[in-house]
Parts: sequence; C-alpha cells; structure tokens
Amino acid sequence: MRGSIMADSEWTRAQAARSIERLLPRLRAELADARAADPAGWECFEARLAREWPRLFALLLQLYGGHYDFFYHLEQILLAAGRAWEQRSPALRALDERRAADPFWYQSQRMLGAVLYVDRFAGTLAGLRERLPYLEQLGITYLHLMPLFLSPEGNNDGGYAVSSYRTVNPAIGTMDELAALADTLRERGISLVLDFVFNHTSNEHEWALKARAGDPEYQEFYHIFPDRTIPDQYDRTLREIFPSVRRGSFTWDEGMGRWIWTTFNSFQWDLNYANPAVFRAMAEEMFFLANIGVEVLRLDAVAFIWKRLGTNSENQPEAHSIIQAFNALARIACPALLFKSEAIVHPDEVVRYISLDEAQLSYNPLLMALCWEALATREVRLLARALATRWRIAEGCAWVNYLRSHDDIGWTFDDDDARAVGIDPWGHRRFLNAFYTGDHPASFARGVPFQANPTTGDARVSGTLASLAGLEQALQEHNPILIDLAVRRILLLHSVMLSAGGIPLLYIGDELATLNDYGFTHDPARAGDSRWIHRVAFDWTRPERWSDMASPAGYIYNELLRLIALRKEQEAFGGSALEVFDTGNPHLLGYVRHNNGQRLTCVANFSERPQTLTANRLRLHGLGYRFCDLNTGARLSADEALALAPYQFVWLETV
Ligand code: GLC
Repeated sequence: MRGSIMADSEWTRAQAARSIERLLPRLRAELADARAADPAGWECFEARLAREWPRLFALLLQLYGGHYDFFYHLEQILLAAGRAWEQRSPALRALDERRAADPFWYQSQRMLGAVLYVDRFAGTLAGLRERLPYLEQLGITYLHLMPLFLSPEGNNDGGYAVSSYRTVNPAIGTMDELAALADTLRERGISLVLDFVFNHTSNEHEWALKARAGDPEYQEFYHIFPDRTIPDQYDRTLREIFPSVRRGSFTWDEGMGRWIWTTFNSFQWDLNYANPAVFRAMAEEMFFLANIGVEVLRLDAVAFIWKRLGTNSENQPEAHSIIQAFNALARIACPALLFKSEAIVHPDEVVRYISLDEAQLSYNPLLMALCWEALATREVRLLARALATRWRIAEGCAWVNYLRSHDDIGWTFDDDDARAVGIDPWGHRRFLNAFYTGDHPASFARGVPFQANPTTGDARVSGTLASLAGLEQALQEHNPILIDLAVRRILLLHSVMLSAGGIPLLYIGDELATLNDYGFTHDPARAGDSRWIHRVAFDWTRPERWSDMASPAGYIYNELLRLIALRKEQEAFGGSALEVFDTGNPHLLGYVRHNNGQRLTCVANFSERPQTLTANRLRLHGLGYRFCDLNTGARLSADEALALAPYQFVWLETV
C-alpha cells in the first residue's frame, strides 16, 4: 500500500513537472509585456510558481482529475494566476516582498483587530475614511469590514448573500473608493480584511440568474435537483443550520421549478465545487479582491463547501483540498494574502483548517464560548482544560481571539472534555442557553435565543457583550453594585482576549459597552434574525461621554485603551505559546505567556468573590518571589498568597 502511494506521488510529481513545462511557454507569451516591464518581479513569480506548482497540481488533480477537460481547466487556472500577477499594483508587489521578508508579522503583540459594518459604523466608505482616527486611537492594525458587496434588497443575511464580488453595495460607495481605502489603511499600518463568501452566492448573482434562465453551464454551478429524491437522501444526515428559516437544507425555486441546496437562508445558493469551473471562477474573484488591496480574506463558512451523500457534508477532506489549492494560488500570484478560516464547528475540526498551507489564521470559537461558559458558572475547569489541551496550532499560525462577533454564540465545546471535568455536556448546554437568554433565576445576562431547533432542542444565543455580561440588567435596576460587577466582567473577558496568544479582535461597539438594540424587530427584513440585536448602529452623539470615567461606557473605553497600550509593549504577548497551570482554585484561570525573552504570568478571577492563589503556587508558576502586576503597578511578594478582588486579573512579571 505504502509503495503504491509513493508510486502515485512520484507519478503525480512527474505529471506536474510535465504539465508546467508545457504550460509555462504559453504563460510567458501571454504576459510578455508585463514581464518586460518588471523582469525582477517576474523572476520572483516564476520562483514561487516552481515552488507551489507540484502541490497545486496534486490538489487539483485529486479534486478534478476525473474530468475529461481537466487540463483545459488547469491551464485556465494558471493563466488566471498569471493575469492576477500582471494586474497587481507596484504597491502590492512591494507588500508581497515585505511580507516575504517578515512572514510571521501577524504574530506581533502590536496586532489588534477590529470588525465593523461600514453602514452601521460610518454610513459609507467615505464616512469610514473620516472615522479612521477613532480606530487609530484604539490601536487597530487589522480591520475587518463586514460584507459590503452588492446583495439583494431587504434580507440579505447581513451582506452574506453576495450578488457580485466586484461591485460594492451602492448605498455605501464604489469599488474605487474601497481600493483607495485599502491603500490608505495600508499606509497607516492597518491591514484590510474582507470576507470571501465562497460557499454560496445570492440568488441574484449573475451565475444564479443564468442558472434560473435555464443555462445548463450555470446550473452546474449549483446543486440543483428536479425533485425531492436526492435532497431527501441528503437531508437524512445533514445538520440544519438555519432551522427557523425552513426545515432541511433545500429550497424549492419557483422560477426554475427545481430544488436547490441552501445551507443557510433560502436566497443563499450553495456552490458546487465538484465542478472545476466553479473553483476557477471563485479563484478569479479571490485574485480580484487581493488586487484591490485586501490583505486577509475571511473564508466564510469553510466547513460546508463539499457535499457527500451519507455524511453531514461538513469538513469533508475535499473542503481542505479546495482551500489549500486557493492558498497555493495566492502564494503564487499575490503572496501577501492571508486566509482566516471561519470554521464554527467541533474543536477537533476547527484546527484542521489551520496551517501555513491552508488558513494561517483562524477564529477561536472555543476560547470565545468557554469564556462565556466560565462567566456563567464562575468556574474555569472546562476553559482551563480546553486551553491546556486544544490551544496549540500549527507552527507559524495564529488564533484570532474574540469575545463577540456579528454572529450568535454556540456552545461548541467537546462533550468528552466536559465529561472529563465532571460536566454533563447536554445539560450544560441547556443551562448555558437558559442562563444567557435570561431564563435562569440567577442570570445577569440579557440575551435572546437564535435558531432554536424544535427537534433537537439545540439553540444559540444573541446579544451584545455588555448585555450578556450583565450591564443592561444592572443599569435597568440602577444598582451600582451590579453595574460595578458587570463592568468588571467586561474588562476581565477583554483581559483574556488581549493576553492569550494571537490576534485579539474587537467587535466595534463593545469598547463602549454597547447594549442590545431591540429595534430590529420592527424591520421586516431583520425581524426574523435575532443576531440584529447585537449589530447596533454606532452612536457618535456626545463623544465627550467617552472620557467620562464615571459612566460604565467611559470607564470601559479608557481601561481598554490602557490595556491595549500595555499589551502592545509586552513581548511576551506576541507569538502564541501559552501554558495553562493548575491554580488549585476553581475560580481562577492561570496561564503563562512567554516570547522573546519575556515571561508573564496571567491570573484571572472568574467569580464575584475575592479569591486567592496560594503563595506556593505563585512561586511555582510565577517563577520567582517578587512580582510587579503590570495592570496596577502593584508590587507583590510570594511570601503571601495572591489575593484577587472580584473579577480581577493580573499580568505578573518577575522583578
Ligand atoms: C457565516 C457568517 C454568518 C452567515 C453565514 C452564511 O457563518 O458569519 O453571519 O450567516 O456564514 O454566510
């Protein structure tokens, strides 16, 4: 068996070599002018092509080798990569070189991400340009703009139903403005991040319109079925992602008189990646986005891109091959481009998307969900276990750590991890849903359910960070003690996000403790999607309140500015090494961060009662006797136990 795999791969390598020998002259001829204009650049391109071609070829062969026109598609894909290089601006080619010289730039502790909706934050792209000083003051170096492409009027899943990847939603601006903004951001040291919504298009995308009009070439772009026979077979093993939209994963399209695969909303048509033309078409969209200056593509809904009968059609091996093939193409044509995977699936599966050859960056849904879990239970056993056993990812890659996003919170922990620390996973998820939707007598949270599934009893939670952390309830009750506790919770969560390794990602509005906005229920296009409760329009009125330390919003904002600045100075917060230690106290999370010669011991109290870490453990894990807490400047000695106030966190350096 081994021998045959070897023989196969040798055969594949030989095929790869033969094919590029044949294709290269055509590529050179096609790009004659561009090569003459930048011979050194072309040399780099060819070097990258030589490096990446064997793996790209092997991946495409594995995915599409069975198609009679495989070599035609291969040539077209290569030509598309060549043309993408040709169209890449001198500034972006220079960026490619800078990144090649410093490939792990994103692991720096100076990185800070932010995510926002252009329309909700600043109205338009022009408005956003004017608001950049706000983001710069926060210290943002990575800016994810939520989907801003053309999409259907009314409900369009917050822009995740894309009708054209080359047209900006006219209500917020133009493609030229977007490209100019990308330039400005880059000049100011901010990387532009956009979504690559590649699992589906809207039903108004040109490809969908052609399919609907009966064009067989474009019907092959989607998963379309004449009757329920095959959809029924698939539905037996598929997970329902948006059960409150419709049951199952298929939608009847009246125009076509056919069933169509729609994992999410009924107007989001899943693309058929078994068709090489789809891969090629999306690769061209990827190149287009890279060449307007996008530095990181957030790969939306990665888990769903390959379908296989008899499975849940999530995380199939081919999904990885497709992303790796996109990755290889990016390395060849626009190597500064990075991928961030959005795999909100079981933790075992999340890490499989992360590697330098696939997605260099990944959301960390486990850290997010378990921070909320620990806040509800006041205990860190599940969080500590997950950090101890599931933190490590492929060398050179980075987590993107977040507390809230535009999406719901799902309780994504592993059932066996829960059992190992004495928690019944099913009951615990029910408890967490009840707790965060205010359906529990001891809850401080004001969240609402999202996509409750009447069959499985499963549900997820919507709500802003501040409302989930208790601030909304505390303010309504005018209770200063509860307000204080909520503020402490909010800062505690941010302290973990800012000190764990990877890129912290602020959900803009959270820095000002934005509360739930219940107004979405009056908008018919949004009323059916509770995630709008936490997609709140930014409040620019009375900016003077941001400096009001007596208000929760002002206090949190200024404390976050301070913590962010502090983070950026600590080498230890760069890289991703993190070692969890047993604090011997169920409420205290403890971990050590070290990098470039600096070592910091972080301890966070997840309960509203004072807690202590014994002197012995402090000596052991703090490595020393005298410490400085970087947060308060307090000097501490390990002659005594470390005392933490309710929800206090410390970042200790040995002195
Ligand atoms: C991702 C997005 C989510 C969207 C879905 C379908 O999960 O984060 O908002 O609904 O993909 O595109």
